Amino acid sequence: MTDRRTRGRFLTFEGIDGAGKSTHIAACVESLRARGIDALRTREPGGSPLAERLRELLLTEPMSLDTELLLVFAARRDHLEKVIEPALAAGRWVVCDRFTDSTWAYQGGGRGGSAQRIAWLERWVQGGLQPDRSYLFDLPAEQAAQRRAAARSADRFEREDLAFFERVRAAYLERAAADPRRFVVVDAAMPIDAVSKLLEEDLIKL
Ligand SMILES: Nc1ncnc2c1ncn2[C@@H]1O[C@H](COP(=O)(O)OP(=O)(O)OP(=O)(O)O)[C@@H](O)[C@H]1O
Ligand SMILES: [Mg+2]
Repeated sequence: MTDRRTRGRFLTFEGIDGAGKSTHIAACVESLRARGIDALRTREPGGSPLAERLRELLLTEPMSLDTELLLVFAARRDHLEKVIEPALAAGRWVVCDRFTDSTWAYQGGGRGGSAQRIAWLERWVQGGLQPDRSYLFDLPAEQAAQRRAAARSADRFEREDLAFFERVRAAYLERAAADPRRFVVVDAAMPIDAVSKLLEEDLIKL
């Protein structure tokens, strides 16, 4: 049996492609470990062997919005069963690069998917589970595109236009406004050091 007091915390990093999630997640995990906290870093879509195979399909294969939505949640279910839930139950902290807020933002805001369906799938797949803290890296789509241009080749999502990413961004901000206790909105246009400092201060609170 798991005692409430020993259950780990669940932190997620959100934001449009190129906003700086991956840059800061590593530092966050390091900082937790330095405090003696057993932290597990993972990502979505993916995070378990089956979900990583679904990720590959999601990032490369053309598909309808409904198929995309169902695959995202199928991957999430496996990730929760095999990785996230066991880790939290064992008292480990889970730090996840993207989670269901990405579904609300990309399949919902970006692609115009039905909020009712997303809410229904979220409830089915997660029950009542929500992250304890979600860091939203907020950045104008144009700036994020400039950062991405310097990085690697674009996947199926990253090839979308600026208007798509502005819709994704707006949907993220709407999510954050609806749940201000869970979200910390980070101005991702700040220099890397300033963002790190802000995250560090929040981690101390947690
Ligand atoms: N605050 C910042 N100022 C300037 N450049 C930054 C900042 N944060 C990140 N970068 C740079 O922007 C690029 C994208 O950052 P990163 O890969 O962390 O974004 P991401 O949110 O993980 O994107 P994706 O969703 O595509 O994985 C990297 O080259 C990174 O070094
Ligand atoms: Mg990344």
